[in-house]
Amino acid sequence: MEDAYGHQIAYLRVSITDRCNERCHYCMPDEVQEWLPREGILSYEEILRVIRVGAGLGIRKVRITGGEPLTRRDVLTFFRELQSIEGIEDIGVSTNGTLLASEPEGEGISMAQHLVDAGVRTANISLDTLDREIYHRTTGRDYFDRVLRGIEASRAAGFEKIKLNTVLMKESSEDQLVPMVRFAKERDLLLRFIELMPVSTQDVLHEDRFLAANTARRILEESLGPAKPRPDFKTNGPASYYEFPSMDGQLVGFIGAMTNLHFCETCNKLRLTCDGKLRPCLGSYLEFDLKEVLRRPGVSDAEIAHFFKHVVDRKPKEHDFRNDYAPNRKMIAIGG
Ligand code: 5AD
Ligand code: SF4
Repeated sequence: MEDAYGHQIAYLRVSITDRCNERCHYCMPDEVQEWLPREGILSYEEILRVIRVGAGLGIRKVRITGGEPLTRRDVLTFFRELQSIEGIEDIGVSTNGTLLASEPEGEGISMAQHLVDAGVRTANISLDTLDREIYHRTTGRDYFDRVLRGIEASRAAGFEKIKLNTVLMKESSEDQLVPMVRFAKERDLLLRFIELMPVSTQDVLHEDRFLAANTARRILEESLGPAKPRPDFKTNGPASYYEFPSMDGQLVGFIGAMTNLHFCETCNKLRLTCDGKLRPCLGSYLEFDLKEVLRRPGVSDAEIAHFFKHVVDRKPKEHDFRNDYAPNRKMIAIGG
């Protein structure tokens, strides 16, 4: 599928729940705390059907997100079925990492291992800090050690790639930048620093908090020496990668949604929210009610496919975050 601006759409991010076991202030601040009613959430069968139709239209990569996707009941059954959809070549999961070391089916087998066994190739794990106190303050939970165990369980499980996502925040992360790069290097993780985006509330952009990707890079360069851009290094996401020759060429990604004016140029994504809206862009008000279509009696795959194309045709050129964008939904329902 190609949109009006030549973006090739091959990537679907799927939020399977709006719930989370943490409360990051930039994502789930208390004032936007209200769960969607259960019947408003797509069933696994419905989600799988959407992905199957998407695969028929050229979707090749799926990333499962939340909320925290691993909190949804029977999530492993879902992943096992997802694996069998023809055309889907790459399955990833985005998680806060707190449940990766858990053993949902007992027998000494970790959640991470079950995911790898179910064909999940990449895990994106959120970790904003290596300081337990700051972790607690940022996420509202004292789960730092659980995440560290989750990271180790993931390494042992043998994902093809493990990415660490670190949201940039003034004060809480400035002195964490170099330690995070060392932490990632020692464990062979691909680290990406992400600028705060106004996905749940606009407050996050307050000057006291917002730390630009370029500023973070400069702070790193003060300790690690000059970084070299690596435009040739591309993953499926919008990160720009740099390497630090002083650290054996360690690669670090920067996701500058707010400050990088070319951010949207290579966008290949659509998003499915847990309540069944298809969104052509995270930072746009546009969303289309696929659930209503899915639940029409006797709806055919062709009608769902038609709906997909309709949404792709309306994908905007770029996000609206820089235009005083005021979010109308919380991030967790959209799926980071
Ligand atoms: N700005 C930037 N990143 C965010 N995330 C959640 N909320 C925000 C925000 N307001 C990140 C999480 C996770 C990913 C799914 O999105 O930390 O790494
Ligand atoms: Fe949960 Fe992730 Fe949102 Fe934090 S950022 S509250 S871990 S969904």
